[in-house]
Amino acid sequence: MPPKEPVLVTCGLPYANGKCHIGHLRTYVPADIFVRALRKQGQNPVFVCGSDTHGTPIVVNAEEEKVTPKELVSKYHNHFEQVFKSMGINFSFYGNTDSPTSHARTTSIVEALIANGYVYPKTIRLAYCPKDKRFLPDRFVEGICPYCGASARGDECDQGCGKHLEPGEIKSAKCRICGTTAEYREQEHFFFRLSAFAGFLVDYLETLKGTPNAINYAKEWAKDLRDWCITRNLEWGVRFPGHDDLVVYVWVDAPIGYISFTEEWAAWQGEDWEKYWRRDSRIVHFIGGDIIYHHCIFWPAMLQGAGYTLPSDVVASGMLKIEDKKFSKSRGYVVWVDEDYLAKGFHPDLLRYYLASYTSHTKDLNFSWKVFQEKVNNELVAVLGNFIHRTVHFAHANFGGIPERTGGGIDGEVIDAITRAKAEVTSSFDEYEFKRLTDAVLALAAWGNTYFQSKEPWQLIKKDREQCAAVLRNCLQISGAIAILLEPVLPSKMEEAWGMLGQDGSVHDALFDDAVKEIKSRALEKPSVLFAKIEDSKIAEAEALLSSRVKAAESKANKASMIAPEDLARLDLRVGTVIKAEPIKGSDKLLRLEVDIGEAVPRQVVAGIAKTHASSALPGTQVVLVANMKPAKLFGVESRGMVLAADENGAVLLNPQTPVKNGTKIK
Ligand code: MF3
Ligand code: ZN
Repeated sequence: MPPKEPVLVTCGLPYANGKCHIGHLRTYVPADIFVRALRKQGQNPVFVCGSDTHGTPIVVNAEEEKVTPKELVSKYHNHFEQVFKSMGINFSFYGNTDSPTSHARTTSIVEALIANGYVYPKTIRLAYCPKDKRFLPDRFVEGICPYCGASARGDECDQGCGKHLEPGEIKSAKCRICGTTAEYREQEHFFFRLSAFAGFLVDYLETLKGTPNAINYAKEWAKDLRDWCITRNLEWGVRFPGHDDLVVYVWVDAPIGYISFTEEWAAWQGEDWEKYWRRDSRIVHFIGGDIIYHHCIFWPAMLQGAGYTLPSDVVASGMLKIEDKKFSKSRGYVVWVDEDYLAKGFHPDLLRYYLASYTSHTKDLNFSWKVFQEKVNNELVAVLGNFIHRTVHFAHANFGGIPERTGGGIDGEVIDAITRAKAEVTSSFDEYEFKRLTDAVLALAAWGNTYFQSKEPWQLIKKDREQCAAVLRNCLQISGAIAILLEPVLPSKMEEAWGMLGQDGSVHDALFDDAVKEIKSRALEKPSVLFAKIEDSKIAEAEALLSSRVKAAESKANKASMIAPEDLARLDLRVGTVIKAEPIKGSDKLLRLEVDIGEAVPRQVVAGIAKTHASSALPGTQVVLVANMKPAKLFGVESRGMVLAADENGAVLLNPQTPVKNGTKIK
């Protein structure tokens, strides 16, 4: 089947409110690899992205940096554009959602949704700060998630269950700016009738391609759709038609950026944007795993309701860890792409290689400086660079270049090895598994090394020059194939290799099919070093920077959280005895406990200790319980307290040195 054209590839739009870190690249680098690979298969995809410029993520940070939202956005827009360029991520167009085209397209889509009956007004209760005298949309309010009890912000349970929260849903709301307990006030807002799309979404998700994580989550969510409030009390944003005091929710205009950037690209290139968004096309969205709901539920419903082409693939990347810790800017577990990586002189392609080759696209990816060093030194230097270098070096030293063809062409086994790698590379894109690509090419390079070694050209050259030339031609053929197959991952390094192989034009324009075309004879220069070993000192320096950042964050947090004696007195800590313990269905981490703390009825608590404690061993054990915790529900089980444990490689329960009466207070 011929591939479906035209193709549009997009990346989730980064908020232009902070610097680019490695977590961002987890999505953008694979998307760029994918686009380059499509080109290598003769297709002509358009690749758009741009700044997400609206919503409270921008307004809150602008207030913190004491600049206007416009200033904030323009600063970070330029930053992202620059970093993407340095990293070899080549968008066809990089826009911003505050452009006139973006405003116009958003207005037009919202008007279409209104005209089609998918928007209705409703009066709701909203968090309001009596001190600042303003409504508190989204990130302006912090509180407790009504679903899981974790601390959350207004529109998202970002620390707990990850659910999207509707305005007014958050519990114990506080103003993020001044800390005042929020009041609730009534106001009329506008809702998108998402529930009307239930049947549509069930069918649509059957046809949606991409990564299984995206599709499977979306199928679950599609069973329980709530209408979305799509207006907000903000100055900054796209006006909601006919209401000067309201803007649309940022999650309305942000994905519409995909359309408006296509329009802007098309106007610039003399192309027709409607080929992509009004007619049959292939639209592939690359996103982070935290915004699947928006892309697989909300966005297709909006497109359907307004009459636009639906996305065909949603590709969601797994999360990023830094040195095995959850990525967190506030806790210092972050690696900034410009100052920590590029400015330290690390080549962009090495990080691209790490991101592509570490693990499956949908799994958690751990970034560790040690592993980075190992991957570069053991894979790129020792296997790949070594093979290309020894091949070119030998050819240059003994033949002055790629020797003339004498006798037969390239060996059958060599062509087979290249063909196998190429098949693996092209099929890796059908499943969005970029690691299969790098594994296949590394295996080809390793095969090449073995081939070189076994043919002993350094002996052959003395006995049979012609035979030796044939061996070298085979090795050079493999080197050229490696450059072509790996160009999507290491674009600038493979261009360098291409130059060392004396090949015409640019490796960027070569097709995967060219990997098996016979390499032409030509003069070669003495090769330079393609990949240099990364020294231990360089890695130690990078690690030191990271750990100093983590320490700084810790001491800041400790200072901020020093408590007074009366704060401690608010904790009601009691000793109790576990009388019953059992696993909770659906969770491998949690146990349901009944703890006797001297009250008439034992306390039911949920404890995250299933990995370290067998439920049968617990009854009779004394534990320390926080007895005045706000009740919370976990996996449908209400928890009325928290059991204390030392957190060292799993939970170690705390108990009194000698047994005490149940209910004894801890002071
Ligand atoms: N800025 C959002 C985020 O970082 C992503 C927006 S993606 C788009 O989570 F689809 F809305 F554009
Ligand atoms: Zn939650």
